[in-house]
Amino acid sequence: MKRTHHCAQLTKANLGATVSLAGWVDSVRDHGGIIFVDLRDREGVTQVKFDSNLRAEAAQLKDESVIGIVGKVENRPDAMVNRNLPTGEIEIDATELTVHNLAETPPFPLTDVGGDKVNEDLRLTYRYLDLRRPKMRKNLAVRHRATKSVRDYFDSQGFYEVETPALFKSTPEGAREYLVPSRIHAGQFYALSQSPQQFKQILMVAGVEKYFQIARCFRDEDLRADRQMEFTQIDVEVSFIDREGIYALFEGMLKKVWKDVLNHDLPTPFPRLAYKDAMNRYGVDKPDTRFAMELVDFSDLFKTSNFKVFASTVAAHGSVKAFNAKGLADVTQGEITALEEVAKSLGAKGLAFIKVENGEWKSPIVKFFTDAEKAELTKRLNIENGDLIFFAAAPWERACAILGRARLDCAQLLVKRGKLALRADQWNFLWVVDFPLMSYDEEKGSYAATHHPFTAPVVEDTGLLDTDPKAVRGQHYDVVLNGMELGGGSIRIHQPAVQEKVFKDVLKIPADVVESRFGYMLNAFKYGAPPHGGIAFGLDRMCALLCGTTSIRDVIAFPKTQKAQDLMAQSPTPVTAKQLKELHIQTVIPPQ
Ligand code: AMO
Ligand code: AMP
Repeated sequence: MKRTHHCAQLTKANLGATVSLAGWVDSVRDHGGIIFVDLRDREGVTQVKFDSNLRAEAAQLKDESVIGIVGKVENRPDAMVNRNLPTGEIEIDATELTVHNLAETPPFPLTDVGGDKVNEDLRLTYRYLDLRRPKMRKNLAVRHRATKSVRDYFDSQGFYEVETPALFKSTPEGAREYLVPSRIHAGQFYALSQSPQQFKQILMVAGVEKYFQIARCFRDEDLRADRQMEFTQIDVEVSFIDREGIYALFEGMLKKVWKDVLNHDLPTPFPRLAYKDAMNRYGVDKPDTRFAMELVDFSDLFKTSNFKVFASTVAAHGSVKAFNAKGLADVTQGEITALEEVAKSLGAKGLAFIKVENGEWKSPIVKFFTDAEKAELTKRLNIENGDLIFFAAAPWERACAILGRARLDCAQLLVKRGKLALRADQWNFLWVVDFPLMSYDEEKGSYAATHHPFTAPVVEDTGLLDTDPKAVRGQHYDVVLNGMELGGGSIRIHQPAVQEKVFKDVLKIPADVVESRFGYMLNAFKYGAPPHGGIAFGLDRMCALLCGTTSIRDVIAFPKTQKAQDLMAQSPTPVTAKQLKELHIQTVIPPQ
């Protein structure tokens, strides 16, 4: 039973040795009465030959059965050598066979290609089979290595790993949360922690100085490829640190992880981009900088445009922006319609465009442009034959967002045509900084914290908190990689008076609500709170990018589906009336 080797280990150096291997039957082949089994374990595959009296028994084996064998390492005949396999020059001549378990035929092929072709729901229902595929096994290994690398890094930097509660209290100003009814306190609820934010700040008051945690977080959000209801953060908080200190600390972590996992040397420091510039140039606060196609502002040029939509937008303090989808003049009508639909869903009134074909500008609005305007467009957008130009006229932020999305969609259309390559192993990290501290909700007529209410204002903007909160920049930073927000954090407010001012005067949270939700924090800060700041990184997102996938479901062993279900264990499920009664819960749906 005891294994002497794993299935990727034996080579010519072991010729003649008697060995014992165990694992799963990857395939069975009958070669004129000699049975060959590819035996697979976590590490790899070894060919086993059954040509003795074991032949008949081996012929009964089905793929994915679990067996153990004892045998002798032999040379493969020249014609059967497989140079692509570490064990490709040898095979084991089996003398013993133990069948631990025969397997039923799997519901889908457990190869990388075969598994990729089937519906993801089927893979998730049989996740234990899906995880046997080489690709998924590698993803788990990458995640393990990345997590260990992170732990080693923070340990080497003098950090304590501290666990904070998953059962926290309701903080309704964040994402929607999961409530947990209390049995002991009838009618009261815990909430599953959305992030350790408040505890990690309290740990700074407690004098921990350098904290990190590989922390499970829970958010009741609509699920997407990069979002799960429970996910893992690399969560960090440090006392006596400024923004530069955080940038250097995290660049160091990422450098180590990329070296340990991919043996790749990441250049540091990462470029930095102010939020305003990110929006102006890429139309999004998490730009994918692997390709250009940058947005250009033409508000000045079209102030007096004959196209009334443009002129009136500028007159109303809006913006006219454009970008050149280089080489996409062969866009189809269907693709244009799809782009327009997306633009409209983002609040666009239209998505004017110019196609440049055979030296001619084809567009419903070209008749409005003067020669001088055309010359200026050509110059600033570098317009050439074969290009496609899109315009948006709208309030600044919306114009940016509309074209930011169109830019990404056009990049995908160019990729599809083989005109643009977006390599998954091109690591365009950047810091996005100088976010506005507050954003103003026109509909509600109130301010909301852009990041969270604990973020400190940029020192020189503090005076504007009373007069013009919109203009205050926060000491907030995001790390972005290839269009994905990997992490975000901030230097925090550490003076209780400033924190109270933000809650009460800017966010207009009533005093009694501030007291019941954050009273304990404000109180703690009165007993000697150091200046501090931190950041949280999406571990799942980082691992997905390390594995070259865009779906975090591929790097989570047991993820939920888009519909928030666990298809394997089958949850959520109804519970009994007795359970509900114990929790003092009555549902409007009759219990089953
Ligand atoms: P934030 O809410 O920006 O900040 O989260 C930090 C990072 O966590 C990841 N993330 C997610 N990953 C998967 N699924 C989700 N549903 C999900 N939501 C967030 C992202 C994101 O960048 N306490 C603050 C951090 C701080 O200020 O220190 C926080 O949680 O990669
Ligand atoms: P119209 O004159 O309204 O038919 O618009 C002419 C072209 O301009 C159409 O292609 C519209 O999609 C486009 N368009 C209209 N409003 C806007 C806008 N606010 N921004 C960009 N393009 C627009």
